Amino acid sequence: QPTYLSDYRPPAYRVTHTELTFDLDPSATRVKARLHLERHPEHEPGAALELDGEQLTLKAIAIDGQPLDEDEYALTDTGLRVHRVPQRFLLDTEVNIAPEANTALEGLYLSNGMYCTQCEAEGFRRITYYPDRPDVMATFSTTVIGDAVQLPILLSNGNPVERGELPGGRHFVTWDDPHPKPSYLFALVAGDLKKVEDGFTTMSGRDVTLQIWVEEENLDKTDHAMASLKRAMQWDEETYAREYDLDLFMIVAVNDFNMGAMENKGLNIFNSAAVLTHPHTATDAAFQQVEGIVAHEYFHNWSGNRVTCRDWFQLSLKEGFTVFRDQCFSADTNSAPVKRIQDVSFFRTAQFAEDAGPTAHPIRPDHYIEITNFYTLTIYEKGAQVVRMLSNLLGWEAFRRGSDLYFERYDGQAVTIEDFVGCMAEVSGLDLSQFMRWYSQAGTPEIDTQGEYDYAKCEYRLVLRQRTPATPGQPDKLPLHIPLRLGLVGTKSGRDLPLTLDGESLGSDTVIHLREEEQEFVFTDVSEAPVPSLLRGFSAPVKLRFPYGREDLAFLLQHDSDDFNRWDAGQRLAMLALEDLIAAHRNGVEKVMDTRVVEAFRGLLATETDDKAVLAEMLTLPTEAYIAEQQALVDVDAIHAAREFVKQSLAAALRDDFLRLFEENRSDAAYAPEPEQIAQRSLKNVALAYLMAIEDDQGIELARTQFAADHNMTDVRHALTLLVHSSRTDIAEPALKAFGEAWAHDPLVMDQWFSIQVTRPQPDALERVKFLMDHPAFSLKNPNKVRALIGAFAQNRVNFHRLDGAGYRLLADVVITLNQLNPEIAARIITPLTRWQRFEEPRQELMKAELERIRAEELSPNVYEVVEKALA
Ligand code: ARG
Ligand code: ZN
Repeated sequence: QPTYLSDYRPPAYRVTHTELTFDLDPSATRVKARLHLERHPEHEPGAALELDGEQLTLKAIAIDGQPLDEDEYALTDTGLRVHRVPQRFLLDTEVNIAPEANTALEGLYLSNGMYCTQCEAEGFRRITYYPDRPDVMATFSTTVIGDAVQLPILLSNGNPVERGELPGGRHFVTWDDPHPKPSYLFALVAGDLKKVEDGFTTMSGRDVTLQIWVEEENLDKTDHAMASLKRAMQWDEETYAREYDLDLFMIVAVNDFNMGAMENKGLNIFNSAAVLTHPHTATDAAFQQVEGIVAHEYFHNWSGNRVTCRDWFQLSLKEGFTVFRDQCFSADTNSAPVKRIQDVSFFRTAQFAEDAGPTAHPIRPDHYIEITNFYTLTIYEKGAQVVRMLSNLLGWEAFRRGSDLYFERYDGQAVTIEDFVGCMAEVSGLDLSQFMRWYSQAGTPEIDTQGEYDYAKCEYRLVLRQRTPATPGQPDKLPLHIPLRLGLVGTKSGRDLPLTLDGESLGSDTVIHLREEEQEFVFTDVSEAPVPSLLRGFSAPVKLRFPYGREDLAFLLQHDSDDFNRWDAGQRLAMLALEDLIAAHRNGVEKVMDTRVVEAFRGLLATETDDKAVLAEMLTLPTEAYIAEQQALVDVDAIHAAREFVKQSLAAALRDDFLRLFEENRSDAAYAPEPEQIAQRSLKNVALAYLMAIEDDQGIELARTQFAADHNMTDVRHALTLLVHSSRTDIAEPALKAFGEAWAHDPLVMDQWFSIQVTRPQPDALERVKFLMDHPAFSLKNPNKVRALIGAFAQNRVNFHRLDGAGYRLLADVVITLNQLNPEIAARIITPLTRWQRFEEPRQELMKAELERIRAEELSPNVYEVVEKALA
């Protein structure tokens, strides 16, 4: 039952206009659809009309006003076929659906008494019979009818054109969306909502009304999203010359949502967690995430909506490009190096793990069973890295011309990744044929590098070897075109040396292109012995190995002109120390702290810095998940012990420095989510984490005071986490209790409360999860709650991987329940179990046994696809 890219055929019939009428009711919503259809000119007459439809009850069907006889059409579980249709015709259908029974949160469903939709990728077929594929684009006219008291607000895409009263206390609004769109961009919202309104005048002078719709109690949490939206609109005009194209732009916050947000034309629907912020309820990280997601969805209006995907294999066409755009936007609005560091460190932890696991797939997969399983880090984040490489290969100016050409040539069309890359090749004259392999080859390329300085000849020889490991279904890989940005840092001067390659001088920071399996680059006129600074800015999504000594890394940490690589040198240095300690732990040998790491950190703490956010990142150790990614077989306990040991050793050795850093960066200024303040808070909180690592009285007192000061959620949450994750349960419990009571009314804060306690390293974490699953604020039907409690627990490395297998069992139980309630979330939450091959015995066997227990159930296609891959 997989769908294959190679089976793609253009649709036989296209819809030129769609008219919908919804008569809303929780158990029996009536959906009338009138589709204006015509046969595609290239298709021969006689083809049957195939429409998608799932979980619909058909009440009426007619063509050009003539009801069809039962033998004129056929119904299946997945759709409807009309055997014979004219060349141009009107199709009228009427179906019933039950939004209140929809726990999968795809199609039309109820969230807190409010109707909303999620149609991407294939949710529209749960609303009405339709050619539910992105290459069918139509204008829409939608009438929404509902109870005037319970559902005062009725929204859909485009502009409201008519409204009125109806008998029986009902009312209606009709919406017109003049821009042709695929069904996945359809949206409807109905409920008792309140709005915040603002405006934006586009570069050509169009006045756009901006609205954010929320439940009344959240009206005070919309400022930041609104400000972010306006910044994003401005940025897209300045950076890509993209302008908004309707008079109204709406955002709606809903509590039950499978993902972050959805770019429906003119009516973006957001997970409330991705839009609501308030200094008292949201952390700095949440503020920044909201800014990024608001921008991401807005940017889709061009990269996704005006130009969309031909089929779902092209998903990265819109997602990779749009993530790249939102990353650049956030870099421009905040600290650019920190944005890069955070994106890459997440990428190397989570996407590398995906690429190395049983669900590894190319950025453009060639088959799938369930498309919702492919909203992945590979499609989104690796896709964005590849677009970033393109922008670097072409240079910004040419990349912009390529992007202009793409938007102009394909406006209103559904296209492919080749069309996008083709525009880039056309404007630049570059041959991007080898580059295209990035889209078809799964797995993370590994580059082994060797460097040698010849004193006599003043030459630096760099030998690079690339290899991409086999992934499921792709045993053999071809060499990729890998742009590698680098510099040579002189060991005497501490500066980037001028680079000369084949007689050409290239400045002190350049990009070399690795295309072969093995290539040698000889830099001449290198006046002093250098340490190479390789893969600056993470110029390609690869693993790069170089036999750096610890002195080299300490040197780069101090001298590299590239902030990203300075940070990376620190991470590599810490990794070397951590690897020793992991080995010591496994061998039962006494752990000894590497003094070079201590001295390197001392150096960092002593230098004046203008970017505190970068310093905070440099002082942060690699996470346990990242460390695990670096190991052949993961030993969770050794990793945890080693990392704690490093933290405590640094804290003990540098206590006074951390104390000073903490004091220097304390502030009573009114909270603002501004880069300088955020940087200062993160630096202060890094210092506090070290001080708490040794759990002395002073550290504990500082954390307690910060928790009690209740100044903003960033500081409160950080302090609470430190207390709860400490061994001082006597202090943790009252703080947790106070926090849980104070915020019982706020679901988004309760999510944080759940996560904080189930991620604690103490051995009671699993029992807490079980206990909290019965908490009144918890529900398996709400994806945010599932992520906050179950998802967070699965990130608790030592406890999820308990040797008695109880962590695995708990997750499997949840997957089995969610498999019926919400297959999309079930198939996502299962991920940690699919990585069983990375662990030692007996964990492997225990994890596999749980996967097998899941496999024995009656499975949704979503879970089936993931489990089959995991056990293959
Ligand atoms: N297009 C949305 C976004 O990236 C995500 C939609 C996800 N849909 C799904 N069924 N998981 O902004
Ligand atoms: Zn997106």
